[in-house]
Amino acid sequence: MAMSRRRIDLPALPSDAGEGRGKRLRAATPLRALLNRVFPDHWSFLFGEVALYSFIVLLLTGLFLTLFVEPSMKEVVYDGSYKPLRGTDVSAAFASTMDISFDVRGGLVIRQMHHWAALLFMASIVGLILRVFFTGAFRKPRRASWIVALLLFWTGCLAGYTGYTLPDDALSGTSLRIASGVMLSIPVVGSWLTTSIFNGEFPGDVIIGRLYIVHTLLVPAILVALIAVHVGLVFRRTPMQWPGSGRTNANVVGERLFPRYVLKRAGFCCLVFGVIALLGGLLQISPIWLAGPSRSAVVGAGSGPDWYMMFLDGASRLMPAWELDIPIGGGYTIPPMFWATVVLPGVLFVSSIGYPFIEARLNGDTQDHHLLQRPRDVPARTGLGAMATVFYVVLTAAGASDVIAARFDISVNAMTWAGRIGLLILPPLAYYVAYRICLGLQQHDRQVLARGVETGIIRRLPGGRFIEVHQPLSATDGAGRGDLEYAGSAVPKKMNRLGALAPAVKGFFWPVDGPTEALASAGHSLAKSGTHGVVNPAYPARGTRDADARTNDEMTNQPS
Ligand code: HEM
Repeated sequence: MAMSRRRIDLPALPSDAGEGRGKRLRAATPLRALLNRVFPDHWSFLFGEVALYSFIVLLLTGLFLTLFVEPSMKEVVYDGSYKPLRGTDVSAAFASTMDISFDVRGGLVIRQMHHWAALLFMASIVGLILRVFFTGAFRKPRRASWIVALLLFWTGCLAGYTGYTLPDDALSGTSLRIASGVMLSIPVVGSWLTTSIFNGEFPGDVIIGRLYIVHTLLVPAILVALIAVHVGLVFRRTPMQWPGSGRTNANVVGERLFPRYVLKRAGFCCLVFGVIALLGGLLQISPIWLAGPSRSAVVGAGSGPDWYMMFLDGASRLMPAWELDIPIGGGYTIPPMFWATVVLPGVLFVSSIGYPFIEARLNGDTQDHHLLQRPRDVPARTGLGAMATVFYVVLTAAGASDVIAARFDISVNAMTWAGRIGLLILPPLAYYVAYRICLGLQQHDRQVLARGVETGIIRRLPGGRFIEVHQPLSATDGAGRGDLEYAGSAVPKKMNRLGALAPAVKGFFWPVDGPTEALASAGHSLAKSGTHGVVNPAYPARGTRDADARTNDEMTNQPS
């Protein structure tokens, strides 16, 4: 039997009847406010999402692995399916990881998915940090989010490191030996710390079991807490958006959480899962059977950590052999390792956490910001970011110096010296180049606003001179100069950005509905719907889709 829903004409109802309904429906109000929240949509906002989805994959695959891993250093004889190692004395941890790889159904693909997800998780966190830095998204009131993102990076490093040690293969053993060396280099407490963690001499027989607890309980709990705080802050605060058409510090232009934003996010989540599954299924990673079981006396050439930790390895390789003797008591020696692997990360950590506060202090900036900045508009910060990135990249490359040396037949010493010199010269150079590029881009923007867009049409003047015809973006004065001010958003620089080429099939690759605009206050009640894709109210718009765009108010309840 067909049922039809009675339409209620709220304005026509007596006022007390509306109140009665309001009272009854009050339970739905918080949920409705949440579902109606508006989120700006831009590819650069996807880093955080990739991190979240790959973390979910890490949790699920990690859970699977815990069912089969035996985190023990007890010696056993390997007798699994991998013939070349049969009869070898290995630890139970190594044997169980071999079993996961060769004898547990689906084990290898899940193990590889876990490792690929870890790499993707860290890559997306680094992408998130870079995006936040270069766009000034760390400014007030989002300093807490910046700190959380940095903590996610360092905790992720700990997660990756502890996971890497669990299979107890030759690479795990090497990384444990390095960790013990790093701890021993710490003055005063170093030897106490090492013997406490390893329960005596390296390697001892408890470290894998301890790291297993850190990796599967402690670190995931910290990561879950950090991610919860990060997502909580995103929902509590007005989302940041790129400047553009009708976007101000006091509104948000984008898509409502429900239904479209949620559906798109769910689709993207499936995509990330799919990509990790493909990577895990198709691309080999961490083949411990090639490295063999861990032996304290054996360190193979080409040993190295995962990419995100390689900068620390690189720092220790580039550090000159400078020892510092401190004549206190019986005398202390601070080995070079201490500066490269303890002091350097400490300095990086503190300076990166402090950066938003230092910048605000230097600029005297006490305002709240909800609009992102284009990197070109803040050349000094962009230069600093480029400098830090190049510093990290040089150290990372130095972490693979032996592999690069072997592959390209270069001496390892030459690689070390190239790294040292590169570390001193390249970061300041990157600052200078990035700074100049920013100024160049700024100037080009101003030129387009003043003179218009290049059309590609060349005209010959009566005097014989050739000029390119420009399409002004606004009314011009007698000298052909426009009067537009730069508004902090993208300036159209090609003719088809001005509306010459409208999308052929609307609604297939491009949304039919215009974005929603909401107030930037808590709860984000809907205000009105806008048009799509206009870069600045002052600039000519690409074809708008008013004709086929239903307004958002038609699709949802009116704000209460
Ligand atoms: C609840 C969360 C997690 C659980 C239960 C878990 C569990 C495990 C287990 C049991 C192993 C050993 C597998 C083996 O021996 O191959 C492992 C390895 C590993 N884990 Fe996790 N893990 C979790 C989260 C993470 C996170 C957040 C990261 C990194 C960001 C990570 C990175 C790794 C890495 C790199 C390995 C080495 C994989 C290999 O052998 O190739 N894990 N994890």
